[in-house]
Amino acid sequence: MRARASPSKSFAEMRNSMGSVVGLDIGTTGVRAVETTTSARAVTVRRAHAVPLASGTFSEGVLRDRTALVAALRQLWRHGRFRTRRASIVVGSHPAVLIRPATVDWLAARADMDAIVAVEADKRLPVGTKNMYVDYHIADVYDTTSEDGDVRTQASVAVVGVDKVTLEAILDCVWEAGIRPSGVDVTAFALARFINQASSGPGVVDAVVNLGATTVTMAAVVDKQFVAELPFGQFAGENLTQDISLNLGISTEEAEALKLIDHSQPQHHPKYQPEDLHDVAQAISAWSTSLVRELHRGVSDMAHTLGMPVGRVWLTGGESRLPNLAPRLSAELGGSSRVAVLDPTAWVSHPEKLQAVTEKTDQDLTSAVAASVR
Ligand SMILES: Nc1ncnc2c1ncn2[C@@H]1O[C@H](COP(=O)(O)OP(=O)(O)OP(=O)(O)O)[C@@H](O)[C@H]1O
Ligand SMILES: [Mg+2]
Repeated sequence: MRARASPSKSFAEMRNSMGSVVGLDIGTTGVRAVETTTSARAVTVRRAHAVPLASGTFSEGVLRDRTALVAALRQLWRHGRFRTRRASIVVGSHPAVLIRPATVDWLAARADMDAIVAVEADKRLPVGTKNMYVDYHIADVYDTTSEDGDVRTQASVAVVGVDKVTLEAILDCVWEAGIRPSGVDVTAFALARFINQASSGPGVVDAVVNLGATTVTMAAVVDKQFVAELPFGQFAGENLTQDISLNLGISTEEAEALKLIDHSQPQHHPKYQPEDLHDVAQAISAWSTSLVRELHRGVSDMAHTLGMPVGRVWLTGGESRLPNLAPRLSAELGGSSRVAVLDPTAWVSHPEKLQAVTEKTDQDLTSAVAASVR
């Protein structure tokens, strides 16, 4: 028995009548907003904009520079010219936002479920729940039969803990910038919802790998439901930048710039020493090899734990631009799953509005688009 939460057609139609929604992704390296309208047939991009955040605005998931965030959000709305000041926000950077799996007895009354999940959350979230907002998503409800024939109904839940201080600091900045939050969601949930239309269906698990600057996670999605999340924190983009900075003895800003150039065309970058370019290309290649290997392991673990084959694997986040990451992972998986970079422009009407922003700012708008689609 699987609980379903996909919106019905009439719900989608109702949403359309409510007008457009702005999805706002607040990430470590930028703020991105996309205004869309959703009809039963299509998601249409109306407006989009992104503003990069200076390094140090966030560090280790904690907001360090409120003034910089407020300024970036103000600039985002000023240049984005969104028709509303309400925004549907997604946050997801570790360790401020954590998702843990749990199995609990399924209880019909929401208040009883809340209580039983609260006890589990206290055990599973690393610092306890005192300093966290706790919420949960029911991924599955099923019957189990014990050896003596007793039938118990259980629920698999994804418990979410969000650090109170960090979330409140972010929301203070949002309000101060004149934006009114209409909801706060976890990036992994929004992405899982977004790929629903390409779901591989029941009995098959799809994966969404979000490769960010401080957070890398793989979300498992079964039959349009977020089921679980695996962390791959060691592959956070800023760690590769840090490695390059330490190896070459250069600042993190310089290392980031060197990392992002097109290493297949080193002759286009005469201002860098050829041996430095060579070292960086080597570091990126070794990094990709380990990332692909670990993602393979993650996909296999996920399939094994859930007892299901893997259907599609979607890669998203800035680091999904690592050269040939999707074909390399596909080859590593033996061609058994379809691997692709999640390209939001392929999923919407008026993709040129997203393309223009990404070209200008180099920011990945996928999570912002996902946040705008409910
Ligand atoms: N071509 C590229 N090759 C390798 N890494 C890249 C490339 N382009 C961007 N990145 C990396 O992607 C990361 C930014 O990704 P993204 O914008 O998804 O993160 P974020 O949303 O700001 O952070 P987080 O989600 O962790 O809070 C940076 O570490 C950046 O260096
Ligand atoms: Mg992100």
